[in-house]
Amino acid sequence: MVTAPRVVKGMHDLLPPEARATSALEAAFRACMERARFGELRTPYVEQLSLFVRSVGTGTDIVDKEIYAFDYRGESLALRPEGTASAVRAYVEQQMHTREAVSRFWYAGPMFRGERPQKGRYRQFYQLGAEVFGDAGPGVDAEVIDLLVGFLRDLGIRDSAVHLGTIGGRETRGRYRDALVDYLTPRTAELGAESQKRLQHNPLRILDSKSPDDRRVVADAPRISEYLSEADRAHFDGLRRLLDKLGTPYTVDERLVRGLDYYTRTLFEIKGASEILGAGDTLVGGGRYDDLVASWGGPDVPAFGFGAGLERLLIAQGAEPPKAPRFVFVAPLGERAQEDALLLVRELRHLGVTADVDLRGGSAKNLFKRADRDGATLVLLIGERELEQGVVAIKELQAESPTQTEVSRAEAALHVAARLQAPSAESP
Ligand code: HAM
Repeated sequence: MVTAPRVVKGMHDLLPPEARATSALEAAFRACMERARFGELRTPYVEQLSLFVRSVGTGTDIVDKEIYAFDYRGESLALRPEGTASAVRAYVEQQMHTREAVSRFWYAGPMFRGERPQKGRYRQFYQLGAEVFGDAGPGVDAEVIDLLVGFLRDLGIRDSAVHLGTIGGRETRGRYRDALVDYLTPRTAELGAESQKRLQHNPLRILDSKSPDDRRVVADAPRISEYLSEADRAHFDGLRRLLDKLGTPYTVDERLVRGLDYYTRTLFEIKGASEILGAGDTLVGGGRYDDLVASWGGPDVPAFGFGAGLERLLIAQGAEPPKAPRFVFVAPLGERAQEDALLLVRELRHLGVTADVDLRGGSAKNLFKRADRDGATLVLLIGERELEQGVVAIKELQAESPTQTEVSRAEAALHVAARLQAPSAESP
């Protein structure tokens, strides 16, 4: 027996209601970002594996455990697990710095990570993101965080909280890393196996561990704030001052570490309500990565950005999927009426009316039943009698007492278009 094909673990089909909700959220994001003069960036879903290994970093979960990597005709490739590395690649490759001093991009699309699937955590997920290149000051960090907070509020997501941290520049980070290793090394035995490994190659991530044992050890670890250089501190204080002035609430989180290696200075996350989001309660993650462009052989251009999980935003929103637009249903009775029905839907659609047609040749009763169940506003019936008399019968379905009228076939499409535009009882 043949086994039916199944969707890949951690990936999902979106049927029209969910796909509509996804598109609506993406459209809201597009509008928000375009209003802030960000331009859309579309990069391929497949990149060279080395792009992610070098930017996201070895020793990170994404690169070590989750990346969908494959060889194709002698090249090591990967499905993108995130958008920043690709944006930087495109920025450097297209020499964007020669075209404009500041580049502001937004993007939306699927990302791939072989994570353990659970609520709000998938292997193919949809990210909404943005990256700004060419502005080193804390003003852009504040602008983007404030923009995001407004975006979440407009989506109706109320219980969200901005967590703000800093990791300093490369020099600060190096000094802090050394201090952390000095503190943790004598306590290695108290750490879990995973953290013991991390102590070798990515000690900062131990700060983010969920294990109670690790948390106990980490509670008294040195704090980044004691190691910040003057310039790093000025950046962080500047950002806080601006957010305070904007009235954008945040909490400073000294233990904030992000699962990607490229960050410098500002780190932030926006968390939603864990009661509805469970473990996947981070709606947005982002920060500054001032060294990444130069590390790829590009100019010394600072950058800042974020990524937001679209599915998580939908869960946090908790809204009903948006309704399909209202539509009319063309019902041909009998074979002769099919041709005319096809012409009529073409005319209707040309006039901007959403029109469905059932060409299977069922009975009037069944066609009405289907139109009613699908939520059509009007049914346009074409039977033998209508063909002979050159008319179309129009039945109003959603009205309190459904009525039936007739219009001449020649004027049917215009009549329906005008009728749907007029404020009437047919509004959904
Ligand atoms: P990230 O924190 O890895 O950062 O991901 C950003 C967001 O994507 C998360 O906060 C979460 O909402 C969503 N997300 C991540 N993994 C999954 C998953 N497996 N299933 C569902 N949603 C997920 C980045 O990707 C950085 N590129 C963000 C950035 C841009 N930093 C600077 N610029």
